[in-house]
Amino acid sequence: MTAVTITRFGDAAELRPTTVPRPEPGPGEVRVQVRAAGVQPVDLAVRAGKGPPNAPVALPLVLGNEFAGTVDAVGAGVAEVAVGDEVLGFATFGSYAEYRLISSDQVVRKPVGMPWEVAGSFTAGAQTATIAVEALAVAAGETFLVHAGAGAVGAMAVQLARLRGATVIATAREVNHDYLRSLGAIPVEYGDGLVDRVRAAAPNGVDVVLDAAGVAAIRASIDLGVDRDRIGTIVAWQEAAELGVRRLVGVRSARRLAALVGLYDTGLLRTHVRSVYPLADAAAAHREVETGHGRGRVVLVTG
Ligand SMILES: NC(=O)c1ccc[n+]([C@@H]2O[C@H](COP(=O)([O-])OP(=O)(O)OC[C@H]3O[C@@H](n4cnc5c(N)ncnc54)[C@H](OP(=O)(O)O)[C@@H]3O)[C@@H](O)[C@H]2O)c1
Repeated sequence: MTAVTITRFGDAAELRPTTVPRPEPGPGEVRVQVRAAGVQPVDLAVRAGKGPPNAPVALPLVLGNEFAGTVDAVGAGVAEVAVGDEVLGFATFGSYAEYRLISSDQVVRKPVGMPWEVAGSFTAGAQTATIAVEALAVAAGETFLVHAGAGAVGAMAVQLARLRGATVIATAREVNHDYLRSLGAIPVEYGDGLVDRVRAAAPNGVDVVLDAAGVAAIRASIDLGVDRDRIGTIVAWQEAAELGVRRLVGVRSARRLAALVGLYDTGLLRTHVRSVYPLADAAAAHREVETGHGRGRVVLVTG
């Protein structure tokens, strides 16, 4: 089978399609014929040798923390998933490949109406946003500011907070403002003058903040007078400690993912696929994500 492998850290050119043995599932595992895999900013950091802080990285490495595909083999003791099931799931690495092994408790059923490229790029943004919104206890009637609202995490956070009854202000470039409005947010442009623009959009103040952009967004949130205990970041972990704001971390789970997939299936959550590349063009996909701009997720597809 083909897997996109890195054998040393570096730029996108290090992502090389390689022929490797197709793996066999062990006890409790399933083998998934991967149809789609999301490309996350963290994949670029790992490729460059800069992360993540919470997982050991050994080379050669196949990147990719989220995927969707068809179960084509099951190991001993697997009862909840069967050959032929269409699933999506989460992992640490291994998804930029035609096949991957995964513990059977890290996949959930893909709804028939969920396209492969949506399924393959769903879990990281949706689960991270849920963890953030829950940790920050975003509540009905509150005003929630989402920095980087057009990204995969931000767009999910906007929608989840709207479902909780919050008013949501979200930052993005002007080109993404109609998209943010379609998700139910009040869009605001980031950059110089951000604090004044947010004050104009939220004359009664901001109660709670998710930073998915970086330290400048945290500083702006502090300038807005938001209680530091209600400012959370998924980006600037070191600065979070220095500035006294919250570092948002959580453990992904199939239970949470199934609930989010259910919201998608009933039309209550939407995702945007920014662009789709063949698996062999993973380097081009990384170069697109490396721009740091755009709506939603970049996705690799097989076949
Ligand atoms: N800690 C965790 O568990 C965790 C999990 C997932 C992601 N993350 C991190 O969270 C961040 C967002 O992830 P993602 O997957 O949502 O990324 P993404 O889909 O690539 O989106 C990035 C977004 O950032 C926006 N942006 C760029 N510069 C900005 C700025 N100065 N202010 C506000 N928005 C800005 C872009 O919007 P425009 O096109 O409008 O510029 C784009 O929509 C990344 O740094 C990622 O590594 C952390």
